[in-house]
Amino acid sequence: MASSPSQITSPVWLLTRVLILVSAFFAGIDGRKTKLSDEGFTYFQPRCRTHVASLTDFGGVGDGVTSNTNAFQAAVSHLSQFASDGGALLYVPPGKWLTGCFNITSFFTLYLNKDAVILASQDMNEWPIIPPLPSYGVGRDTPGPRYSSLISGFNLTDVVITGDNGTIDGQGQMWWQKFRQGALKHTRGYLIEILFSDQVIISSLTLINSPSWNVHPVYSSNVIVKGITISAPVTSPNTDGINPDSCTHVRIEDCNIVSGDDCIAIKSGWDEYGIAFGMPSQHIIIRRLFCVSPFSAVIALGSEMSGGIQDVRAQDIQAVNSEAAVRIKTSPGRGGFVKDIYVKGMNLENMKWVFTMTGSYGSHPDNKWDPNAFPVVSGINYRDVISENVTIAGKLEGIPKAPFGDICISNVTIGMSPKSKKKKLPWNCTYVSGTSSGVTPTPCSLLPESGYGDCPFPTDRDPIDDVEFQACSSASYRHSHTHPLIY
Ligand SMILES: *[C@@H]1O[C@H](CO)[C@@H](O)[C@H](O)[C@H]1NC(C)=O
Ligand SMILES: *[C@@H]1O[C@H](CO)[C@@H](O)[C@H](O)[C@H]1NC(C)=O
Ligand SMILES: *[C@@H]1O[C@H](CO)[C@@H](O)[C@H](O)[C@H]1NC(C)=O
Ligand SMILES: *[C@@H]1O[C@H](CO)[C@@H](O)[C@H](O)[C@H]1NC(C)=O
Ligand SMILES: *[C@@H]1O[C@H](CO)[C@@H](O)[C@H](O)[C@H]1NC(C)=O
Ligand SMILES: *[C@@H]1O[C@H](CO)[C@@H](O)[C@H](O)[C@H]1NC(C)=O
Repeated sequence: MASSPSQITSPVWLLTRVLILVSAFFAGIDGRKTKLSDEGFTYFQPRCRTHVASLTDFGGVGDGVTSNTNAFQAAVSHLSQFASDGGALLYVPPGKWLTGCFNITSFFTLYLNKDAVILASQDMNEWPIIPPLPSYGVGRDTPGPRYSSLISGFNLTDVVITGDNGTIDGQGQMWWQKFRQGALKHTRGYLIEILFSDQVIISSLTLINSPSWNVHPVYSSNVIVKGITISAPVTSPNTDGINPDSCTHVRIEDCNIVSGDDCIAIKSGWDEYGIAFGMPSQHIIIRRLFCVSPFSAVIALGSEMSGGIQDVRAQDIQAVNSEAAVRIKTSPGRGGFVKDIYVKGMNLENMKWVFTMTGSYGSHPDNKWDPNAFPVVSGINYRDVISENVTIAGKLEGIPKAPFGDICISNVTIGMSPKSKKKKLPWNCTYVSGTSSGVTPTPCSLLPESGYGDCPFPTDRDPIDDVEFQACSSASYRHSHTHPLIY
């Protein structure tokens, strides 16, 4: 992951590097720590698992060439029997584990060693076709069905995908190329997609080169995405980072994302299909995010938002070289709502826009959308933002028949790029209303200075705030070698 120039020169950055080197040195001279895979390992989640097995117990071969699809499926199927007996963990050892799509199960942890790489197969026959999402009606790339995601979970309870910063490599180049050539019959799969599930944790992993979106929790609740590094070329198509979609109680924290589309995009279904499905994304916490997204947004709301988006709380956001910091995208036909959005504390550098709202995004699933289904956008609160080198401070474009209301922007200092300073048009607002306070440069006249001070940010805790991780030890893991499969 590329560090920003200011990071590289900052004392904190240097100190961090020194500490990493020092701790690596001590880990190296402590023999027990260097052989974690033999001696057991520590994983972090709310409840520890009772049973542990290794992918090699199911015939897995980590040579980067042999397909492990059957090994993963056999492992998951075997370990699913422990759902009501304390749950199970599947250990992926060091190695390169090529695989096609596989499903995971409930009360289950997939744990990657730090030197484990799950490599997505480039054989398209290893990517089964499944129906489109009910709230989208059609695939996003093409009408009709779609490819499965590499790792999927349907209708699960208590599922964890984690590792000591092990890697899942989507090998997406083939998919990006076919997509650009219009050579795909179906919508691309994602790296991780968890559907209709409760208690989902995705943590401590590096995700690279996804064919399309990286992490897609959909129709799920109590979702935590923590300590994830995501990287893909900034020119790769639709490689969004984390996209909570019709999800409730979501906590995304300590993530580092450099990719070809939005770092985080909150969604809830598409036009008439999303309206009919009617499942909002709500109670979403985002904090301590670092993002580079030169052609998209740090945090996007929409454009698919037809089930509604409500109560999003984003805090401590850092971004460089990105197109927009927060972007609300919608259109007539979407219906739904985007309301009670709170952002506090953003530090931004080299941005095209800081704030953008687009009411004419278009992009419809088919021609059956209702032109009178207007979205409601209201209660949008942004505060405590510093941004350097910005082309346009705010482009806020509401819908004439459904203006965006109750916008509040406070304590924001935006340094315009030298070129933009000459143009003297830092804000462009149409069909929006609200107030501002302590914002530089002076906002458009539709957001007059209120004199009220800070915009609100909720102080109550969300239940997902209170989910704690404990250190779980798999010290006796090695016994599974002497007692094959399971202990
Ligand atoms: C995963 O489960 C879904 C739902 O049961 C099924 O449609 C799909 O074929 C399964 N995928 C794989 C790779 O087994
Ligand atoms: C998952 O649950 C949803 C909603 O209850 C249901 O429509 C769907 O058929 C279930 N899918 C599977 C694979 O069990
Ligand atoms: C995980 O690995 C990535 C890629 O090597 C690295 O950039 C990131 O800093 C690592 N994260 C942690 C928490 O060690
Ligand atoms: C300002 O941002 C633009 C891109 O928006 C970039 O090309 C330029 O190098 C940046 N300038 C500085 C001084 O960082
Ligand atoms: C204004 O925002 C800055 C960060 O951008 C923050 O440090 C400061 O405390 C804020 N001021 C108030 C009064 O909240
Ligand atoms: C302001 O935005 C409106 C609506 O998007 C656009 O039509 C207009 O050209 C913009 N004005 C300027 C000066 O950029």
